[in-house]
Amino acid sequence: MEHFSYRGEEFFCEDVSLREVAQQFGTPLYIYSKQALVDSCRQIEAAFEGREHRTWYAVKANSNRALLSIICNEGLGADVNSRGELYLALEAGFPPAKITFSGVGKRDDEILYALEKGIEAFNVESEEELIVLNDLARQLGITARILARVYLNIDAGGHAYVSTSLKQNKFGMSLDDAGRLLRSAQGLPHIEVRGIHSHIGSQITRPEPFVAAAELLSRFVGELHRGGIPVGEIDFGGGFGVQYRGYVTHPLLPVEEHERGTMSAEEMVKTVFPVLLKTGCRISIQPGRSIVAQPGVLVTRVLYRKMTEAKTFIIVDGGMNDLLRPSLYNAHHQIVPLVLGSGSFETVDVVGPLCETGDFFARDRVLPAVHRGEYLALMGAGAYGFVLSSNYNARPRPAEVLIDGATATCIRERESVEEL
Ligand code: LLP
Repeated sequence: MEHFSYRGEEFFCEDVSLREVAQQFGTPLYIYSKQALVDSCRQIEAAFEGREHRTWYAVKANSNRALLSIICNEGLGADVNSRGELYLALEAGFPPAKITFSGVGKRDDEILYALEKGIEAFNVESEEELIVLNDLARQLGITARILARVYLNIDAGGHAYVSTSLKQNKFGMSLDDAGRLLRSAQGLPHIEVRGIHSHIGSQITRPEPFVAAAELLSRFVGELHRGGIPVGEIDFGGGFGVQYRGYVTHPLLPVEEHERGTMSAEEMVKTVFPVLLKTGCRISIQPGRSIVAQPGVLVTRVLYRKMTEAKTFIIVDGGMNDLLRPSLYNAHHQIVPLVLGSGSFETVDVVGPLCETGDFFARDRVLPAVHRGEYLALMGAGAYGFVLSSNYNARPRPAEVLIDGATATCIRERESVEEL
């Protein structure tokens, strides 16, 4: 089902005109479709076709409390990366038994907090972290359940900043090191070995890297079992890509071609899950982007048009402090007007108001012609959008609104300058 589409000239989210929402709540504004979020949770769960598994939503992708509650109500668990994310997950209702803790630099106070709350498992990234975890668990007189995070030296493609499984990346351990770590962990009184964990990257749209990862992990589990290390769980991580191009189509919009050969998260799970299942292990995944990216948009308003010798700039009221992905990763977000025009197109740079040349949303993009006061939506902004926002240039962070049918509810107030 399409949750974002044109009705006549107006762009709607569910049963609400986004122009009206933008006028009511102001811009820049993050807007989410509840039904789209519910559907993406259900689609990923349906990919497992009823077979036992666990899905830990990667809270880092979007940690808005209202969205977390929806995801929790859909029965997913949560993977957290900090004390703050753990706090928000607990507040949203995720039971500790459905929370895991990943991350390369867990502080002692964060580990203690997670141990006290009794979370399901820690994904351990180094020998030293294991020793600290054992020690902190001893102080509390309890046992910590662990998975060892491995890197597989797989190039998953995509932007170098989101590659996580190469040997030069900071994440995880080699298979040899992980084998040694798991062996020594068996001898630690406050550690219970559960399994292995891998997360190979993000925005991966081709199946090959995932299949290669699943095969390497399966082989490794076999080796561990033969070596007397009874791991019973594989956490396969997240990274399933989404389609950022051509999400919305209309005769009055420029055509954006989908990337060729891409696979949805559901297709990816269906491809990889059988390989992992052969190990006899319990399987979990940690999707972030594939759950929340498409249900969210960033709406911004055109402030000025400016023609220079080289370019036509559309200067909007949102900037890199609101949505960093284009600046940081050169990421593409489809941009559509909230009210369709005459069908004339022009090639423009869509830029924000900040004092950085890198403050852009699109460069040399063919877009419908827009003018001062009109609104644009940046599609697929639900994941790594608001969570990466900042106060750079002393700009208050945007508000967030949830659409549910015909109702629009503010789920995070716009920051005020007084709060800066
Ligand atoms: N698990 C772990 C251990 C992770 O580090 C991540 C993401 C995920 C799961 C979720 O991955 P996903 O399914 O969302 O790809 N800010 C970047 C993405 C950074 C991903 C960080 N780790 C972006 O906007 O593209």
